[in-house]
Amino acid sequence: MQSNRVYRLIVLTAASFATLALFSALAAGANAPKGSETKGRAFYRQLCKDCHTKGAKAGEVSPLTKTQAQWRLYFQKGKHAGGTEPLTKFMDESKLLDVQVFLINHAADSPQPETCGK
Ligand code: HEC
Repeated sequence: MQSNRVYRLIVLTAASFATLALFSALAAGANAPKGSETKGRAFYRQLCKDCHTKGAKAGEVSPLTKTQAQWRLYFQKGKHAGGTEPLTKFMDESKLLDVQVFLINHAADSPQPETCGK
């Protein structure tokens, strides 16, 4: 009888910890600002490629234009067109984060370089 109770207590405690771990993992995931590469590619094609196609005045820009470190720095500064305007002129911060993830993941020195030709 007594050992049965102890057993139940142990199972209950373990279950509580498991639930707690699950919830904190979910909460951490929700808080961590992680961009989506897939969305980033779409935003990039929609909103950046308008001006940055081959032969365009603004010059062709693709993930290959910079290295991963250079893209990181570029978005850290957040300035566009020779530093004359903020990148947020084109899209909000969360979309920019997606675009940043896309560009970094396919930069010139990335494992999967991509031109994103259009
Ligand atoms: C309205 C047209 C337009 C749009 C949209 C646009 N750009 Fe540009 N971009 C320019 C022009 C103009 C320059 C300056 C070219 C030069 O100095 O020769 C430029 C320059 C750049 C450069 C070269 C470095 C610099 O900042 O001078 C990069 C990288 C760049 N753009 C990335 C992007 C990204 C990423 C997006 C989308 C978030 C974007 N651009 C959207 C017009 C545009």
